[in-house]
Amino acid sequence: MTTSTTKLPVWDGFIRGYHWLQALSVLGLWYTGTEGLMDWHFSIAYFLMALLLTRLIWGVFGSDTAQFEQFVRSPRTVFAYFRHPNTTTQHGHNPAGAYMVLFFMLLLLSQLVTGLFANDDIISEGPLAYLVSSATSSEMTQLHALNFDVLLGAIGLHVAAVFIYLLKKDNLITPMIHGKKPSQGLPAPQLRNGIIGWVIFLVIGFVIYSYWAKDVVVYLF
Ligand code: HEM
Ligand code: HEM
Repeated sequence: MTTSTTKLPVWDGFIRGYHWLQALSVLGLWYTGTEGLMDWHFSIAYFLMALLLTRLIWGVFGSDTAQFEQFVRSPRTVFAYFRHPNTTTQHGHNPAGAYMVLFFMLLLLSQLVTGLFANDDIISEGPLAYLVSSATSSEMTQLHALNFDVLLGAIGLHVAAVFIYLLKKDNLITPMIHGKKPSQGLPAPQLRNGIIGWVIFLVIGFVIYSYWAKDVVVYLF
């Protein structure tokens, strides 16, 4: 029998691994970017690129709670959610959180894309910088730094929101670790085996490695 306290699996293994590896990668990119450790910076960035591209594919073919179609709702639903937060009808991101997810993905993608055209004025440049003039590459580098500040702001708000939910006795953090949440009387979402996500990640990672990453990874050790 399903009671409101029965725990249901809501986040698959790929989403959970993706989330925490992404958080670690952003920390690593912050440190290596500001310290000028460019071989590490590029290598971590390519790793994150593979993670993010896999997440986008998972957003179409993955578990119910990962699919954009399932969790992105109209702005009207978001306003209704703010007025009556306890009327959620499905597990996964709430209507407001869904826009946070999209905003994060947009910020991370623009960080990655500007990085590909950036240069450090010394010897390192992104693998696509040769396609543009040095003035455009400098502008991309400035955008890269500016976009990162916005990303940091978004991360601050995200972590603050998660802790506000915690104070309101809605723990979102441990489900992102072990995957399970109390059912709260809501139907169980259909989850896909996260291993499929990791296989897609390996394929994308291999392509990125063959084209770009192998040139920098050899200098790491
Ligand atoms: C660099 C730092 C971080 C980034 C870029 C980030 C980004 C994201 C993204 C994109 C999602 C959506 C996951 C998906 O659907 O694929 C998410 C969800 C989540 N994040 Fe983070 N995150 C970061 C750090 C953290 C930290 C430090 C915590 C915990 C204190 C946290 C807790 C959560 C939780 C609980 C969810 C699920 C929210 C829900 O139930 O709807 N995140 N995060
Ligand atoms: C989400 C992924 C990324 C994050 C979070 C990130 C973050 C950063 C940060 C914080 C800096 C220091 C900016 C400053 O000096 O104020 C930086 C610099 C740099 N990044 Fe990234 N980066 C990412 C992806 C990339 C990618 C994909 C490339 C190229 C393959 C790249 C290439 C560079 C270069 C060349 C610099 C040096 C710019 C300079 O010296 O001012 N980054 N990055």
